Amino acid sequence: MIVLGIESSCDETAAAVVQDGHVLRSNAVASSMDLHVAYGGVVPEIAARSHIESITPVIQQALTQADCAWDEIDAIAVTYGAGLGGSLLIGVLTARTLAITKRKPLYAINHVEGHVYANFLTETAISGYTLPSAQPEFPLLALIVSGGHSQLVLFRNHFDYRLLGQTQDDAIGEAFDKVAKIIGLPYPGGPSVGKKAMEGNAYAFEFPKAKMAGKYDFSFSGVKTAVLRTAQAQIGQDHTFPSKDIASRLSEAQKADIAASFQRVAIETVVDKAEIAYDEFAPKSVVIVGGVAASPELRRQLAERLPLPIAYTDPKLCTDNGAMIATLGCFTALHHRPDTDPYSLDIAPNLSM
Ligand code: KG4
Ligand code: ZN
Repeated sequence: MIVLGIESSCDETAAAVVQDGHVLRSNAVASSMDLHVAYGGVVPEIAARSHIESITPVIQQALTQADCAWDEIDAIAVTYGAGLGGSLLIGVLTARTLAITKRKPLYAINHVEGHVYANFLTETAISGYTLPSAQPEFPLLALIVSGGHSQLVLFRNHFDYRLLGQTQDDAIGEAFDKVAKIIGLPYPGGPSVGKKAMEGNAYAFEFPKAKMAGKYDFSFSGVKTAVLRTAQAQIGQDHTFPSKDIASRLSEAQKADIAASFQRVAIETVVDKAEIAYDEFAPKSVVIVGGVAASPELRRQLAERLPLPIAYTDPKLCTDNGAMIATLGCFTALHHRPDTDPYSLDIAPNLSM
């Protein structure tokens, strides 16, 4: 079973070929991130236009790297939600066209569910990838932490999962990005806040952890506002002081203390819930996916608090990619789940798990 996966939900145009749900044959990604840096976040119009330019070359690159001709491809899998409407449209319309013209079954994939399946890749001939040696086992607890999502999901088996909880406002990566902006660190905020935090005291400020009605729900808007108020107070100003003028008046030491204290609390917020879920459901495996999985602080806290070792996949498979979509496409086909009509598949920007 050889599946071509196509992903275009945000700012990465990606395609990949995966065989039998565990062999990574190729992984091609073109990111428009550089074009968004000047704006401090993804601009949907710019992302959609980049997808139009990149999608055909990226798919061609995925086929070439896999050394795969079209007649060897058994099916096409594409992200149809959740994501930015304009971005999703490009991937979905491309996949629909290819499914019709190349006469391949088409599988519609949920992006967030796809993220989890990056962890099922265990073999590759491509250099530069470090993959886990075995696939995760069920029950499987998945912590999905990215710029767009913060969710905790329990998989009893393939296609049998339950969303335990999710953020009620910002995603954790988004909170890192916003805090970076307040204290004048570059986008994306996760790595820049993480780096600055190494110079600071993680207990300099006691930022609040939100108390949620849902046992496994998260919230990051309170801590973000607390960072803003602290930064204003540190420069002797009140809540009316414009956030864009704060960074230039903070010392490097103040920035480092804010970064470290924010990072500790934001990461503790998700690790606290992961630990409660671990105790309640006794999963055989835990996987961490999404851009924030790259955070050394997240990895450190999880290793300290969860009793089982966590196998992280390659960082290139934690961020948005076509391989995770192709992998879930393989399992969809192997489990004889229905394919979708290439003449009518629509996007679902607000799709949930
Ligand atoms: O999964 P991803 O590439 O895109 C989305 O689907 O959102 O995640 C991007 C997010 C950004 O918010 C970025 O700040 C965060 O992942 N991120 C990190 C790190 N690297 C990326 N957050 C914390 N620590 C990191 N090292
Ligand atoms: Zn994603």
